[in-house]
Amino acid sequence: MEQTISITSHTERKVTDTRALPFGKVPTEHMFIAEYKDGKWQNASVTPFHDLSLSPIALCLHYGQTVFEGMKAFRMNDGNINVFRMDKHYDRFNLSLQRMCMPAVPKDLFVNAIHQLVAIDADWVPTDEDGSLYIRPFMIATEARIGVKVADEYLFMVVCSPAFLYYSQPLRVKVETTYVRAAEGGTGMAKCGGNYGGAFYPAGLAREEGFDQVLWTDSKTHEYIEESGTMNAMFFIDDTLITPSLSGSILDGVTRNSLLSIARDKGVRVEERPIKYTELLAAFQAGKRVEAFGAGTAAVVAPIATISIHGTDHACYTGKDAMMYKLRSWLYDIRIGAAPDTHHWNYII
Ligand code: COI
Repeated sequence: MEQTISITSHTERKVTDTRALPFGKVPTEHMFIAEYKDGKWQNASVTPFHDLSLSPIALCLHYGQTVFEGMKAFRMNDGNINVFRMDKHYDRFNLSLQRMCMPAVPKDLFVNAIHQLVAIDADWVPTDEDGSLYIRPFMIATEARIGVKVADEYLFMVVCSPAFLYYSQPLRVKVETTYVRAAEGGTGMAKCGGNYGGAFYPAGLAREEGFDQVLWTDSKTHEYIEESGTMNAMFFIDDTLITPSLSGSILDGVTRNSLLSIARDKGVRVEERPIKYTELLAAFQAGKRVEAFGAGTAAVVAPIATISIHGTDHACYTGKDAMMYKLRSWLYDIRIGAAPDTHHWNYII
């Protein structure tokens, strides 16, 4: 069923220097909001950005039924605005919702919500080369009730914020073998709030030790690399792009997926397979050139300069000719229309 979206526009806040804004700190002028009640989506609207009124016993505040997506819109060479990989983000959003027992969002509602919102806040899409508009679709359980249950009422919302470089310099990470991000059979493949909240403590401990982030390992053996911080982990060793295969505990990253496709298109050898940190250690010890990076929507490609394994630092290659920078620039070219969009990833507003 096609949803009508009511639109109330308003232009009070002027876009100033978007580059100066810290990531995610300043929302654009509008937001999208729709209610799920009595088994259906209703009251869909694009409105001026506003605070919510929520019962203190709204179920999301107690039992964690919250799911989100992270997407980006880019200003293209021809001046159009491109929302990158709308379809894949939509599919992942609904997979996360299913895992968290939350109602699916119909595709036309998701697409129209983002289309209308980005169109009305088009002036907020940075024109600078390295800028984009970060789009955050999310859903929370709003039913007011303390009892532990799957909620009957929800809000689906979308907010946006201008985004530039997420990490300003190559990262120093440690292989984490005490805490885990996700376990087999858990919620690791879903983009639910708890996955991120649960990671703050180990990430904080790593920061106290002088690291920017952790390199997560699996929950059973602590031998296999899973993700890096809030990103997928990727390596380039011996002319091969290697990334852990998707297990139930790893997020099916859209940037990960895009980089793998681009690498294959360009004839780069790609391996999606389990990778032990001891394999990295062996490569370092053999004096191989190891590239390591995080791949995510917010950070795109975040180079890793140092990997600490059981207290010993190992230097990764971050020279200008590194494969990770080529991958990043090939991806960028598709997004801004400088290279053909052969996979039909671009959704033009
Ligand atoms: C993203 O890359 O979009 C993320 O979800 C990471 C973080 C901003 C939560």
